[in-house]
Amino acid sequence: MLSSRISARRWTSNHVSLARTAALARPNTLITGWPAVLPAACQYPSPPSPRAFSTTPIIHPRQFLRPSQNEYMQRTRLYRSPPSWRSFSTTPAVHLRDFFPPMETEQIRRTAPAWPHKGFSMDEMLAVQPGHREPRTWGDWVAWKLVRLARYCMDLATGLKDGQQVDPKNPTTAVVASKPLTEAQWLVRFVFLESIAGVPGMVAGMLRHLNSLRRLKRDNGWIETLLEESFNERMHLLTFMKMSEPGWFMKIMLIGAQGVFFNSMFLAYLISPKICHRFVGYLEEEAVHTYTRCIHEIEAGLLPKWSDPEFRIPDLAVQYWNIPENKRTMKDLVLYIRADEAVHRGVNHTLGNLDQAEDPNPFVSEYKGDQQPKAALKPSGYERADVI
Ligand SMILES: [Fe+2]
Ligand SMILES: [Fe+2]
Repeated sequence: MLSSRISARRWTSNHVSLARTAALARPNTLITGWPAVLPAACQYPSPPSPRAFSTTPIIHPRQFLRPSQNEYMQRTRLYRSPPSWRSFSTTPAVHLRDFFPPMETEQIRRTAPAWPHKGFSMDEMLAVQPGHREPRTWGDWVAWKLVRLARYCMDLATGLKDGQQVDPKNPTTAVVASKPLTEAQWLVRFVFLESIAGVPGMVAGMLRHLNSLRRLKRDNGWIETLLEESFNERMHLLTFMKMSEPGWFMKIMLIGAQGVFFNSMFLAYLISPKICHRFVGYLEEEAVHTYTRCIHEIEAGLLPKWSDPEFRIPDLAVQYWNIPENKRTMKDLVLYIRADEAVHRGVNHTLGNLDQAEDPNPFVSEYKGDQQPKAALKPSGYERADVI
């Protein structure tokens, strides 16, 4: 017993000194994979709740890298006091931690996104509504059922309780449940959803790019839209990562999910790109539904941390969407993100209706008349005859 205590203490102190060495060498490095056995004096005063995904150890390894309050105030104006280092489910309302602060270099002032966002007016964002395209072919039906299965697994994995689920008869358009989700539950869902949503556009864009090179054919404007979609999804993810901190269990889930989803999407897109676009269209229907429900809960005052007037959305989001000064609440941010999802929904349902080999991308084409298609306002996408 005594020898095991001594070896545990020695082992712990070795890891502490390793962490300090690493922190001195690379201050921004995130050290993961830390043991649960740590000195009691280092434990955080309020342990995390034992919810699904909130599996960060009681003492977070980055506590050893915790800078002083002054260092924080200097590093970023987002902080009013040192942030909490608790698990995923305990994101504070006003203490946004800079998960990946911008890298300081000798010469670079700022790195702007390669695809600047086109922006939305408030009317455009408010016009977005949940919608559903009824499956018409067996391929549509398979895509829809796969998305429903994914949704079911997601609800199960994130520990949604009975009252927190919406009307099961209208799962994609109903946005009211008897119990709201907490801010932490929303963030788990957003991070997981966005990390998955960024995959299909990249796979589809990559395969169409390779197809064009291999077959010496034009692509007709699909590749850029698909890659931009996955870039846009990643910006959603980065925005939420500025507000939350997944535990190790969540990180493992993300790696596993990406491994499975990327490879499945790769094979499926080679076999039937039409079904894949339909699948993404249905996935985006779910995303619009999810963000609409979140907006309703913010409006109803059920998410007090996000309704707090002190709450500040990340600078990264302000810059990417070019959000005006008086529209920087959490509700506004979710409106921007929902409008993006509505664009993805309309684009993918439309692409699923087109001839994959020959048709040009309607959303980057110039039209002879003035019937420029607007993907965000077309929940079921455009039929081929309407845009080609
Ligand atoms: Fe997204
Ligand atoms: Fe999306």
